[in-house]
Amino acid sequence: MQHKPVIIGVAGGTGSGKTTVARALVDAFQGQSVVMIEQDAYYKDQSEMTMEERYKTNYDHPFAFDNDLLIEHIQQLQQHQAIEKPVYDYAAHTRSSETILIEPVDVVIVEGILALEDARLRDLMDIKVFVDTDADVRILRRMQRDLNERGRSIDSVVAQYTNVVRPMHLQFCEPTKRYADIIVPEGGENFVAIDLLVTKIRWVLTERNRA
Ligand code: C5P
Repeated sequence: MQHKPVIIGVAGGTGSGKTTVARALVDAFQGQSVVMIEQDAYYKDQSEMTMEERYKTNYDHPFAFDNDLLIEHIQQLQQHQAIEKPVYDYAAHTRSSETILIEPVDVVIVEGILALEDARLRDLMDIKVFVDTDADVRILRRMQRDLNERGRSIDSVVAQYTNVVRPMHLQFCEPTKRYADIIVPEGGENFVAIDLLVTKIRWVLTERNRA
């Protein structure tokens, strides 16, 4: 019988380096079957809404995410079924019409600001990680990324961070640290923590193969 994949949740504030940690884990398992699922891909579809309405959405609140679909997809991967992962368009603030086919894998890394917020998601995870990085470092990284990659202006990043991102982080993201098995300070630069995680994941895989 095929064993169930190992599911790892990687949460942390915007700009914390959680994507870097998740990618480092993916790299460590190159050659084996591993996939990263960004919770951002599961922002709710807003294609029926006007651009004006999309600007008003609070993208840092749990309501913004279609966790039902994310949970369904993780459960399908656990049952060795392929999924069609949505693709998110940050400039259009909605899902694009494309999807990406994800075949069943041994290791699934679920990464997102609120990856540990929903108890149903946490229950599916074998290992829960919170990447903990100081807010000044995070806002600088976010500014750089939103200007270079997400088509935003300095004024819009400052307004969104002050009015929405920061208060939502304190209310919904930061408290999920308590659910983490491992807290990784300074994200992707923390090679010791990444090595420890890789060792643990390999151990879980070996145990499942033996069972
Ligand atoms: O990659 P990162 O974890 O920073 O992505 C989450 C962030 O993306 C959220 O803090 C949210 O404010 C932002 N976002 C956005 N516009 C969207 C969707 C998400 O600015 N349309």
